[in-house]
Amino acid sequence: MTKRDQSQTLIVDAMQHEIDQRIVSFDVPGHKQGKGNPMLRDFLGDKAIHYDLNSRKTLDNLCHPTGVIYQAECIAAEAFNAGHAFFIVNGTTAAVQTMIMSVCKAGDKIILPRNVHRSAINALILSGAIPVYVNPGIDKKLGIGLGMAKKDIEEAILANPDAKAVFVNNPTYYGICADLKGIVQLAHSYGVKVLVDEAHGTHFYFGENLPVSAMAAGADMAAVSMHKTGGSLTQSSFLLIQNKADMGHVRQILNLTHTTSGSYLLLASLDISRKHLALEGVSVFNKVCKLTKYAREEMKKIPGYLVYDEALINGDTIGNVDPTKLSIYTKDIGLTGIEVYDILRDEYDIQIEFGDLGSILAIISVGDTSLMVERLLAALTDIKRKYKKDPSGMLDHEYIQPTIIRSPREAFYAETEVVPIKESAGRIMAEMIMAYPPGIPIAAPGELMSEEIIEMIFYAKSKGSFITGIEDTSITNIHVLKEDN
Ligand SMILES: Cc1ncc(COP(=O)(O)O)c(C=O)c1O
Repeated sequence: MTKRDQSQTLIVDAMQHEIDQRIVSFDVPGHKQGKGNPMLRDFLGDKAIHYDLNSRKTLDNLCHPTGVIYQAECIAAEAFNAGHAFFIVNGTTAAVQTMIMSVCKAGDKIILPRNVHRSAINALILSGAIPVYVNPGIDKKLGIGLGMAKKDIEEAILANPDAKAVFVNNPTYYGICADLKGIVQLAHSYGVKVLVDEAHGTHFYFGENLPVSAMAAGADMAAVSMHKTGGSLTQSSFLLIQNKADMGHVRQILNLTHTTSGSYLLLASLDISRKHLALEGVSVFNKVCKLTKYAREEMKKIPGYLVYDEALINGDTIGNVDPTKLSIYTKDIGLTGIEVYDILRDEYDIQIEFGDLGSILAIISVGDTSLMVERLLAALTDIKRKYKKDPSGMLDHEYIQPTIIRSPREAFYAETEVVPIKESAGRIMAEMIMAYPPGIPIAAPGELMSEEIIEMIFYAKSKGSFITGIEDTSITNIHVLKEDN
């Protein structure tokens, strides 16, 4: 088969052609290239507003692509070594939900770790799929959930031979990868599909010496946040499938929730970013790895901070560690990650990706320079000097093993009542609650509330975590199932 030319950007070219033709538009968007909304045009600039187009004959249709979008999808598929690639403009959330809804109908079982993003739990509510949770490995020191162990997955498959799929994070927010190849081989040997959340793994497809990507590992589907480490605009993603024969069915499922007004700015950003990484990805990510390696080595010279690196690899629950992520454990200096996050922002004008109860994560990308990394290192050194405290009494874990009473969908749609969170121990959750980021529910619909969970919520809140997910934005009351439900 002849390879497609990765230097092409068919969507961008078609958009350019539309603009060059000076088409008189009696279609939406109603701002008509900004003429109808000068304030927005001035804010975005002439170029961006001109390219904010909607589906037209020459521009194809995202829900039923047969022209430039379909061709651009085929080019992207080759770049990712996938059977097919879908352009996604509703965030990776839409890709995660499509993966789960493509393989699970209501009542079907799916095996997954509990440290998944809220989009996966929401997909269980939407689809009615039944979760079979496998506890991720836990690092005792770091207190975080890792990847799933293969023996635990096998046990879950043997106990649930009707399970349709295993869902895997590759990597977790912190950059931890399970043994994905081993998991795929294991699941496929039982006829179970493998779906991979690669929101944080776009670069695995394009760099050298990085952890294995889902498609290379033989997984069936993957949700890839091009907008996170791939350079496209926020909210744009790819959904990849291994087998092109599944394309029609997956598109039908995607169209259940995907917009019918796909933004061409987002589509163009996916097209251009795919070209950029297909042509330059190796050098881009080599540069990122070099910069991150330098940052890690320097951080290791500052006693008190613990840097996540390949020393964590154990061949199973930690099959690999993403070398592009700068994850740092901060609790030994008596500060939670969220406190360090806040100090960096408030005192040093440095914005990092997130901080949680024990760690911070700084995303280093091709947009960064060694000068910026030096600023971060200097700030962290200074923070330790100024703010170091006695760490005793700090909460020592991020992951609480859930007790499941009802399926997420059953609990979400059940008769509920509102109770103060502080008095909810022993009740069954009807909504989910989490710190965002990382967006992993502390408790999800159908799970039993406990004193330990309540303590975790208020501890995280007191340290400055943004707690979200429940209806009551003051984080006082929650919906639980009525007692007789
Ligand atoms: C692991 C994981 N999966 C899925 C998502 C959803 O991605 P998006 O925000 O693009 O919808 C996120 C978002 O941060 C994530 O961290």
